[in-house]
Amino acid sequence: MSEETKQIEQIRQSFESAFERFAHLRGDTSNLSLTDAETLQRELSDLKTVQTGKKSELANSKKLIGRVVPEERGAFGQLVQSIEREIATAIEEAETNLKTFIADAKVERERLDVTLPGTRPREGHLHLLTILRQKIEDIFVSMGYSIEDDREIETDYYNFDALNIPEGHPARESQDTFYTTNGFALRSQTSTVQIRAMERRGVPIRIIAPGRVFRRDTPDLTHTPMFHQIEGLCVDKNITMAHLKGTVGEWLRRLFGKETRIRLRPSYFPFTEPSAEFDFSCFKCGGTGTFENERCRPCKGSGWIELGGSGMVHPNVLRACNVDPQIYSGFAFGFGLERMCSLMYSLDDIRLMFENDVRFLEQFK
Ligand code: DAH
Repeated sequence: MSEETKQIEQIRQSFESAFERFAHLRGDTSNLSLTDAETLQRELSDLKTVQTGKKSELANSKKLIGRVVPEERGAFGQLVQSIEREIATAIEEAETNLKTFIADAKVERERLDVTLPGTRPREGHLHLLTILRQKIEDIFVSMGYSIEDDREIETDYYNFDALNIPEGHPARESQDTFYTTNGFALRSQTSTVQIRAMERRGVPIRIIAPGRVFRRDTPDLTHTPMFHQIEGLCVDKNITMAHLKGTVGEWLRRLFGKETRIRLRPSYFPFTEPSAEFDFSCFKCGGTGTFENERCRPCKGSGWIELGGSGMVHPNVLRACNVDPQIYSGFAFGFGLERMCSLMYSLDDIRLMFENDVRFLEQFK
């Protein structure tokens, strides 16, 4: 065997050993994963360059053809060609097999099984405070009230002065709020809307004003620095405390049922005179203080639930809105929504309402 022929024989052997792991692709590919196949495809392309590229042994061996003695040149040339063909065919076959396998695997991966259950998008729902607010709004609208919405950033004038709480009045301190520059503050009560609404609409007027209020309170079981109130205002000729009692009683009966009773307790607010806090008979025990032989929870066994403040609009408040207190009188009330919600749903921590934990919120659809 000539030197050259030996060299060709070596090329064949080195190809065969390098190609060995691709050789089985001709047969069974069922154990192959898509990523494996893609890796093999890249490696095969590298192997092709090494084995048949311009710098390959094979390319070199072609140069030998000229050096072989003339009488053997023909046979040697054929040998080179046949080994070249052999290598090319083997690689091509492996390439085709891999390509088919990858294409099939991709189709398989993307196949849709229309019988599988779908993943439904999670459905949202209103927040429990919104649900309660809307119920109360509906009740008042049906009694001829309008819903008044107003700003959360206020001046001291609307939050205090116009509500008969002058500078230095102790009521300012208990409602300490968040101040911005230029004398603005976040409103500490929705009573501001009494003034805004009377300025805008004049009297007679019947409104409720739900909204956010802010106080400099440290969050705990019963406090958050932001909470919601609903304010009510009714001003007309000859409005009396009886109208206040009738109205508050009526909306609470519509919310909690016909049996609900209310009571007014004397109290003090700067913007009403006389003033009263209003309680209603407990929705759980019906006012007995006992539920299922135990001390009733929402009313702590008293049978009454304290809800909010109310009273006859103070003449100074009417005057601040250019309403003549000799001709007009009115009542007002205000209460907190979070407190009401926590009682209704026996929540022991009002912060739950603002933590946005869906597992909590989903219980109140
Ligand atoms: N604004 C009072 C508060 O935040 C609640 C209140 C009491 C509102 C009496 C009223 C009222 O309209 O007449 O504590």
